[in-house]
Amino acid sequence: MTTLISGGQVLSTAGASAADVLVDGETIAAVGAPGTLGPADETIDATGKYVLPGGIDAHTHMEMPFGGTHSVDTFGTGTTAAAWGGTTTIIDFAVQAKGTSLLSTMDKWHAKADGNCAIDYGFHMIVSDVNDSSLKEMQACVDGGVGSFKMFMAYPGVFYSTDGEILLAMQKAREIGATIMMHAENGIAIDQLAVQAFAAGKIDPVQHGLTRPPELEGEATSRAIQLAKVTGAPLYIVHLSASQALAAVAEARDDGQNVFAETCPQYLYLSIEDLAKPDFEGSKYVASPPLREKSHQADLWRGLRTNDLSVVSTDHCPFCFKDQKELGRGDFRAIPNGIPGVEHRMDLLHQGVVAGELTLGRWVETCSTTPARMFGLYPRKGVIAAGSDADIVIYDPAAKQTLSVETHHMNVDYSAYEGLEITGKVETVLSRGRVVVTPSGFSGSTTHGKFLSRDLNQYLN
Ligand code: URP
Ligand code: ZN
Ligand code: ZN
Ligand code: ZN
Repeated sequence: MTTLISGGQVLSTAGASAADVLVDGETIAAVGAPGTLGPADETIDATGKYVLPGGIDAHTHMEMPFGGTHSVDTFGTGTTAAAWGGTTTIIDFAVQAKGTSLLSTMDKWHAKADGNCAIDYGFHMIVSDVNDSSLKEMQACVDGGVGSFKMFMAYPGVFYSTDGEILLAMQKAREIGATIMMHAENGIAIDQLAVQAFAAGKIDPVQHGLTRPPELEGEATSRAIQLAKVTGAPLYIVHLSASQALAAVAEARDDGQNVFAETCPQYLYLSIEDLAKPDFEGSKYVASPPLREKSHQADLWRGLRTNDLSVVSTDHCPFCFKDQKELGRGDFRAIPNGIPGVEHRMDLLHQGVVAGELTLGRWVETCSTTPARMFGLYPRKGVIAAGSDADIVIYDPAAKQTLSVETHHMNVDYSAYEGLEITGKVETVLSRGRVVVTPSGFSGSTTHGKFLSRDLNQYLN
């Protein structure tokens, strides 16, 4: 079965160029000048549209146990919503529970995801129990296609690791070529501020933000960078939200250290003012790190342009307002942490293009090509080129849409972007050659997605 995508503007990190794309089975057979390819069994007219590599969301939490409940998107619903939004690969976090092994954790995540995804998927491993056997198992994870390990300087008593434990895991990562991903917030200090706030009768969602000041993200980011420098491990800062943290990353990168960082759409578009919404509505916006003052946003956009922020991921972690965020009414510390967003990343970053914050090339690079390279999927994913998987989005840059819980496909009862007007819309999505989204709806299946055994980070010095 062959498909010709004709008449579109094909996007790459270099920008747009008029070209046709010929798909044969699951892969791209050729990219050529307009009118030079085909005929094919089917033709999709992409006149006036962008043709870009499918989005890669390197940070999602489907069915994640957290805060006494679990995130409400299953691999099936979450990957279907991702496809609707032009994302054709997710990398989800397998979570090691204390007292369990990394390999049993891998098995557990495979049992949840295998045969239940609409698009291709990989895993990172969250290491929350650093001991001799976990450290030894890191190599087996790499062999199983999971070469990136997340650790937490936040959440004492849950996922938190001490500096000593982080040092040990970084030494191992250095030895085996793996990347350490860091949740960089000083959780020990934050917990004291949160205890003090609660004791003073401050219970509302906004306290979540006020007790997690940006300085404590900057401090933890700097500390993680120094630990990585001492050990020689590659470091990837996840969900960077604060100017202070970005400055630390930029300095390390200027020094040539293997330090990388991602930010998320919520930090570019939402702020602590959302967290301060009355009637407990602020709980919809509780995530860690917290939404910041708007003044951080210009720095984040600049970081995306300078490549000090090289990836945009969503940190999609949906909890329903009605029955899950509710757990923290009366004590902001008990609000499950997470914001839904897997469906909207490509659209929200396209808004950055419309607003002149990003070039088309940087849109594609931060949302697809760089995550592919960072997490060992390139050139199978992240580029429109002969031989690559036919993961292709046909995007109408002029279409208008309004984001809303009424129209989104995530399995959660609110939208963090309710009412936001967007210019641009996904029209058609192919995942490994199969059309999974058409202008008239979802045409995929939750048995289509395959596990991606990933190589190591392709950016290491
Ligand atoms: O609040 C968040 N970010 N929830 C998901 C877990 C994490 O730390 O990434
Ligand atoms: Zn985190
Ligand atoms: Zn996360
Ligand atoms: Zn619910």
